[in-house]
Amino acid sequence: MTFRVINGGLESGPASGLLVTGAAAIATLAGGIRRGATQDDVALLDAGAAGGPDAPGAPVVAAWEGRIVAVGPRDAVERALEAGGLPLGRFARLDAAGGLVTPGLVDPHTHLLFAGTREAELRLRQQGAGYLDILAAGGGILATVAATRAASVEELLAHGRQWLDAMLAGGTTTVEVKSGYGLDLPTELRLLEVAYQLGLEGPLDIVPTYLGAHAVAPEFRSRPDGAEAYVRHLLDAQLPGVAAQGRARFCDVFCEAGVFTPEQSRRILEAAMALGMEPRLHADELAPSGGAELAAELGAWSADHLGVPSEAGVSALAAAAAPSGDGHPTVATLLPTTSWFLMKSEHAPARQLIERGVPVALGTDFNPGTSPTPSLTLVMTLAVLELAMTPAEALAAVTVNAAHALALGEEVGSLEPGRAADLVIWRVPNVDQLPYWPAADLVRVVVKRGRIVHDRT
Ligand code: NIG
Ligand code: FE
Repeated sequence: MTFRVINGGLESGPASGLLVTGAAAIATLAGGIRRGATQDDVALLDAGAAGGPDAPGAPVVAAWEGRIVAVGPRDAVERALEAGGLPLGRFARLDAAGGLVTPGLVDPHTHLLFAGTREAELRLRQQGAGYLDILAAGGGILATVAATRAASVEELLAHGRQWLDAMLAGGTTTVEVKSGYGLDLPTELRLLEVAYQLGLEGPLDIVPTYLGAHAVAPEFRSRPDGAEAYVRHLLDAQLPGVAAQGRARFCDVFCEAGVFTPEQSRRILEAAMALGMEPRLHADELAPSGGAELAAELGAWSADHLGVPSEAGVSALAAAAAPSGDGHPTVATLLPTTSWFLMKSEHAPARQLIERGVPVALGTDFNPGTSPTPSLTLVMTLAVLELAMTPAEALAAVTVNAAHALALGEEVGSLEPGRAADLVIWRVPNVDQLPYWPAADLVRVVVKRGRIVHDRT
C-alpha cells in the first residue's frame, strides 16, 4: 500500500516555528480515539485556571517545521523549547486573542467533485417525492452523473478549489473526497486524479476514495439484470483500473435497499481489499439493510450515515469497537445535515451508539443532492439539536474520531507532539459556542502544517 495522503502542497519548504499564545482554552483532543464516556472529553487546557489567556501559565501550542512540538503552560513550554535547542527567537507568535484553539477539523465524508446543481429536488421533496424515487426516475445521482461526465478537468478543478476554500474558511484542514459521479472508468479515474491534484495544490490534505458503486450506471439500468451486470463491470474493469491508477486509498459502496445489496457490497469491497484499497461503507442511510453488520465484519474504517441501523447492526459495531478487539474499530460516521436536508424526522441513533461504546465521527457528506454544505460547525449544530450529542462529543467527532475514520489518527485530529500542526483559532472562547451560532463565521485563523493559510484577524 503506497502512502496516498498528500501533504497540502508543502514540498517547497518547511514551515518556520510558530507559537500560538493568548488562547482562552485549547481543546487538544489528545489521548486517542474517543468512545463511550471519553467521547465527551476534549482534553481541555483552560487559561481560566492559570489567570487568563495572557498569564505566564496560560496554555500555548508550539509548532516546528509543520509539526506540533509542545502543548502546555506558556512558561513551561518556553523553557522546554530553549532547553531542547529551539530558541524562542525562531518562533513567530500568533495571538489567539482570547479565542478557543482546536485541531484543524477533519471532514471524513464528502462527495466534493461533481458538476451541476439539484435545487429542483427541494420542491419535489416538499411535494412528497422520496430520495430513491427521484433516483429511479433518472434524477438524483444520475442527473449529477450526466453533468459530471460532461465536465472538463479544468471545470472540476475550479469547482473543487471553490468548495475546498469554503471548507478551509470553516476550519476544515483534512478532507476525504469520493469519486462516484462518473460510474464509468474514464470519469471515475478523472475524478480521482482531480482529487489527487487538489491535494498536491494544497493547503488542505485530501484523502481520495473510489465510489464507483454509488448507483447502477445509466448504461446498465434498462437491463433486467442491470445491478448485477454493473457489479461485474466494477469487478472486471473499474476496480483493476482504479487500482492501477493508484490514487484511491479507500473503496466505498452505497449499500442500501434498492441500490447495492450487502452481498454485492461485500464482493466489491473484498475485491477492492485484494487490490490494496481499504473499505468504508454508506450503510443503513434510508432503511436497515445489513450495512452496519457488513462494515463491522469486514473491519471497515467507517460505517457512514447509519440513519436507521438495525439492532443487530448496532450490536455488530459495538462488538467491533470493543477496546480489546484486534486492530482498529469501525467508526460510526454520522451525517446529520443529510437527514435534515432530506426533510426526515428520523436521525442517526448517536446516543445509542455512544452508550454502546462505538466511536462516533461526523462529516458534511458534501454533495449536490442531500447535503450541499461545506460547514462542519453547522454539522455540529445539527448533531447537538437532532442527535442529542453534547458540543464536546461533536467536537471529538469532527477531529480525533474523524481522523481515525480515515486511518489518520496518528497524523491529524489532535494537538499533541508529533502530530501535524493543523489548528484553528476561533472567535469564540469555549467549545459550547462552536455549535451555538449556526451558520455564523466563527473562524479567525487556520494553520495548516505550521503555516497560516486563512487569516481573518
Ligand atoms: O451520501 N447516499 C448516497 N450518496 C450521497 C448522495 C448523493 C447524491 O444524492 O448525489 C449521500 O447522501
Ligand atoms: Fe455520502
